[in-house]
Amino acid sequence: MKKYRGGIWLFDAGAWAYDLFTANPIWLANCARLLAHVPPQQDQLQVLDLGVGPGGSALAMGQARSTARFVGLDIAQGMLAAAARNRFKSGWSAERLLLLRGDALHLPLADRKVDAVTGHSFLYLLPDYPLALSEANRVLRPGGYVAFLEPHAGRVSWPWLWSQSSSRLWVSITLWRFYSGLHRRFSPESMRRCLAQAGFINISTEVTLGGFGIFGRAQKP
Ligand SMILES: C[S@@+](CC[C@H](N)C(=O)[O-])C[C@H]1O[C@@H](n2cnc3c(N)ncnc32)[C@H](O)[C@@H]1O
Repeated sequence: MKKYRGGIWLFDAGAWAYDLFTANPIWLANCARLLAHVPPQQDQLQVLDLGVGPGGSALAMGQARSTARFVGLDIAQGMLAAAARNRFKSGWSAERLLLLRGDALHLPLADRKVDAVTGHSFLYLLPDYPLALSEANRVLRPGGYVAFLEPHAGRVSWPWLWSQSSSRLWVSITLWRFYSGLHRRFSPESMRRCLAQAGFINISTEVTLGGFGIFGRAQKP
């Protein structure tokens, strides 16, 4: 399996801490909004959540989309163990959220298999993120949807973060800001560019979380 800069050990060893700090309502509410561009009448969605981590992203999307089914893919076994615990606590079955160990650069899925591909705080970690986007395109059915929420390269509002009065959010966003400085952040332009280069259309971006995050949403032709 290919590794990203920094290795998977950090996410393996730190899964419990990541789970603790990101299990906050504001972070999870943004996860839920990843599928905001998918029409509500689209029933029985099959969603692939890349870098599912401790599962919060898929579980939050599933609360907003009660008939959707998810495949949660991650390279770190520690994260998948945390996701399995959270799936159990949420009363979800393995059919509703299938957890899969794998590398997003070589997806273990057939072509045109899923209706949507999502990634929450994921793309920025990958040195070869264009390859991950091209893999996402490959496994999407024509007309399918893609969405990422990534660290934003533009101006951020620390007063906004303070005003949320959440120590968990403060820790997760401060670490996110630091860690993304070592890896990558996306501007609206760079987010649009990479989605377009991967062959997606109907691209939109939205700055969120007080400027700390940016959504990129698009569709496969
Ligand atoms: C910052 S966490 C995000 C977790 C979750 N989506 C969330 O927002 O709470 C990024 C996740 O991506 C996973 N990851 C990194 N590189 C990967 C790769 N090449 N393939 C699959 N997962 C990967 C890490 O193990 C980690 O769990």
